[in-house]
Amino acid sequence: MPQLICPHCQAPLTADGRTWSCSNGHSYDQARQGYLNLLLVQHKNSRQPGDTPTMLAHRQAFLDGGYYQPVSDRVNQLLGASTPASILDMGCGEGYYTDRLARALPDADCTGLDISKDAIIKACRRNRQIQWLVSSSARLPVADASMDAALSIFSPWSWQECLRVLRPEGRLLLVGPHADHLLALRNQLYDQVHPTPELIRDLPEGLRILDDQVLRYPLELPAEALADLLGMTPHGWRSQPERQQALLDTGVDGLEVVMRMIMLQRC
Ligand SMILES: C[S@@+](CC[C@H](N)C(=O)[O-])C[C@H]1O[C@@H](n2cnc3c(N)ncnc32)[C@H](O)[C@@H]1O
Repeated sequence: MPQLICPHCQAPLTADGRTWSCSNGHSYDQARQGYLNLLLVQHKNSRQPGDTPTMLAHRQAFLDGGYYQPVSDRVNQLLGASTPASILDMGCGEGYYTDRLARALPDADCTGLDISKDAIIKACRRNRQIQWLVSSSARLPVADASMDAALSIFSPWSWQECLRVLRPEGRLLLVGPHADHLLALRNQLYDQVHPTPELIRDLPEGLRILDDQVLRYPLELPAEALADLLGMTPHGWRSQPERQQALLDTGVDGLEVVMRMIMLQRC
């Protein structure tokens, strides 16, 4: 387990049974489900930050269908190459990738964090061996230079925080959509498809790109999985319901998963 730090004062946290506390008297109780909530009220951007329970249910059903398993396998392969002893999954959602990563790399100590408590409760059910944290990627509750690797899949991250928590030579894997990702679906949903933003724009000093690759494969989805895919993404609320229904009725030809994966290293 990484050295956790207090979200109030950044002093190291130590555990006494289920209670974690720092030398300044701040303490946090581990929930009965197993996670630790280190998100302070003043750092929440809403009452229930992160993905909604409905989005989470759709994402879990979709991911458990195995449709993104090639993504998970590639993530495990890329991270496993440097045999990290500690890995932090930032914005881990309901834990699909973290769980598969921990099973693929049994010698690595995996921690998953997400700003959504509902997501972390679901993650706890997947794997009780992983340290699950309710926390923000903008304020990682782990000590400086304590992580061998960090991961972000379709989730926000902070360059500053990644630089702080990665040890020298530590790795950061960023995974996000390529411009072609689910393009056939987006073409059917919108008159004008928005351009996909670059996964990284300004690379900060202190990180260098080790590898930049694209994973592309065709996706054939039954209507139920298509509905989950819509429900787990902003397309579910951003596009018109009639267009969504038409898409569910006809299906989508030529659908492709196209992911950009960039591996960075702390210099
Ligand atoms: C698109 S989902 C991806 C989840 C997971 N990585 C996956 O691919 O299945 C984005 C996740 O980021 C979380 N999130 C949003 N803002 C966050 C923040 N500031 N810190 C941590 N997690 C955040 C959301 O709650 C959500 O679970």
